[in-house]
Amino acid sequence: MDITILGIESSCDDTSAAVLHNNILLSNCIASQAVHIKYGGVIPELASRAHQQNIIPVVDTALKEAGKTLDDIDAIAFTRGPGLVGSLLVGVSFTKGLSIAGNIPMVEVNHLQGHILSHFIDLPDRKLPHPDFPFLCLLVSGGHTQIVKVSSPLEFEIVGTTIDDAAGEAFDKCAKVMGLPYPGGPVIDKLAQEGNPKAFNFAHPHVDGYDYSFSGLKTSFLYTLRDAVKEDPDFVEKNKADLCASLQHTIVEILIKNLRRAAKDLGIRDIATGGGVSANSGLRNGLVEAGKKYGWRVFLPEFKFTTDNAAMIAMAGYFRYRNGEFSSLDVSPVARLEEMQH
Ligand code: KG4
Ligand code: ZN
Repeated sequence: MDITILGIESSCDDTSAAVLHNNILLSNCIASQAVHIKYGGVIPELASRAHQQNIIPVVDTALKEAGKTLDDIDAIAFTRGPGLVGSLLVGVSFTKGLSIAGNIPMVEVNHLQGHILSHFIDLPDRKLPHPDFPFLCLLVSGGHTQIVKVSSPLEFEIVGTTIDDAAGEAFDKCAKVMGLPYPGGPVIDKLAQEGNPKAFNFAHPHVDGYDYSFSGLKTSFLYTLRDAVKEDPDFVEKNKADLCASLQHTIVEILIKNLRRAAKDLGIRDIATGGGVSANSGLRNGLVEAGKKYGWRVFLPEFKFTTDNAAMIAMAGYFRYRNGEFSSLDVSPVARLEEMQH
């Protein structure tokens, strides 16, 4: 049976809508919110208001670009959580309105599962590589850092998770300390290309199992800067590229170390990554290298599927739809992953 799904994503600061025909992407529109840049981080209240302004034009554009009308849509997949409640509320409420108006069923999606399942999307003119089950996904976003064992499109087991900061937060917070604009991850990535990754040594965490920790690295980065700036006020400016390269190198080392142990212990060779930080060139290169060394098949997402987008929400919604999982009109957004039922 052919299924056409409209996806809606509004968990943080990007308003996005996409249309998928089975797993084939017909459109994927994203309105990013520039309003947060001057504050150096996402301001939840401003994000909700911007979503409210963006959501109708974004959904309208996604439908038009796909050449579809609401009559063609079999279900609306929406991000229920985790994320900022005010932001999620805009997407959830809008979905309910559209569902009532068009008599279209709703399918709720866990944002993080969306990032993972983006690996099953194909483009109209090109098939993309899909991992086989079970595979491991290194999920690295602004709010989460996890190793997830994926046994089917509906079965996820978190094998390791961060006990404090996420990898994206480590990038963003260290960038802030250096006076770089928000979000810091892509800026560090760019500056790192010119720097020496071995110029500085930062702390590696000691955590049990496959869990991660990035707060020690953040502190060690902060202390290095604080001590050096006392000697030379221009230290950061002079060493920006080396600082970025060394920081990125350390984050990538930390991420791949546990992933490698998990892959070995679980005997899994299909390794995927997803989430905003999976756009990082150091991480992408590091995973490809690790793949060669350890005999993995490595799956890197297309850049457009790394940061938040509704295509991945529609993809995850497709699998839930096929499994007969629908949401009722009393569904409400959830902020934290632990509150999600799946
Ligand atoms: O998945 P995402 O778009 O939003 C969340 O669900 O959190 O991830 C955003 C995070 C931010 O921390 C941002 O700095 C980081 O992804 N990011 C990067 C890069 N592009 C985005 N971090 C490192 N290198 C990049 N190229
Ligand atoms: Zn995300």
